[in-house]
Amino acid sequence: MIAKDNYLRLGVNIDHVATIRNARGGFHPDPLRAANIAYQAGADGITAHLREDRRHISDRDIERLIKEIDLPLNLEMAATKEMLDIAIKHKPNACCIVPEKRQEVTTEGGLNLSANINKLSDCINKLRGNAIRVSLFIDPQKKDIEIAKELGADIVEIHTGSFANNFNKNGEIHNDEFDHLNDISIFAHEIGLEVHAGHGLTFETARVISRINVLKELNIGHFIIGEAVFEGLDCVIKKFRAILNSERS
Ligand code: PXP
Repeated sequence: MIAKDNYLRLGVNIDHVATIRNARGGFHPDPLRAANIAYQAGADGITAHLREDRRHISDRDIERLIKEIDLPLNLEMAATKEMLDIAIKHKPNACCIVPEKRQEVTTEGGLNLSANINKLSDCINKLRGNAIRVSLFIDPQKKDIEIAKELGADIVEIHTGSFANNFNKNGEIHNDEFDHLNDISIFAHEIGLEVHAGHGLTFETARVISRINVLKELNIGHFIIGEAVFEGLDCVIKKFRAILNSERS
């Protein structure tokens, strides 16, 4: 049994189901079917990134995720007028603002908050004014947590890519890096931000990261969809849920 305060939510990112669908330009596999399986398997939320170039998730996917899926949607988006209008139209549970570069393969790093104060402040105010919770995807830096708080964000999502990639390369936890993520997360929690984490997480790295007990949510995509090829989506999500539960009980 896990105390409510200790529960770690699992957000499943379904972008890569859309990537496979789009490779053939048709309708299969349907990201909505993946979202439904995630729901049945115990996921707590769905994450989808509507990119400017629509390389995976489409506008129609977002519309259907809002209408047809019984899980909160965390809409990842760049801080642009186009995305803001879409978010306000659909009112997801939360928006996670991410940096976006056309050429990148994935979200390579956190937001550059100090260089984008006015743009972010305007975007955060408009989203919050429409009852949408706002998360900022940031690198694990104290200065960015302070800025996120000043900007009025509800949540910071800490980029775990460097920690996860270093672990995946040699199978060892870099204690310095883990301690840093832990300290940074505690700092964010203590100044009143909800703290999430994600990027590059696998069964092993999610297990380690979930020991940071102020974290409220992990968002995981690429590994879940990749592993689902071998084990099935339902099975992979249930395994993640069991890992998070066992680390928090
Ligand atoms: N969180 C955010 C903000 C992201 O941009 C991504 C990647 O889309 C993820 C989590 C999930 O990362 P991964 O696909 O590496 O698990």
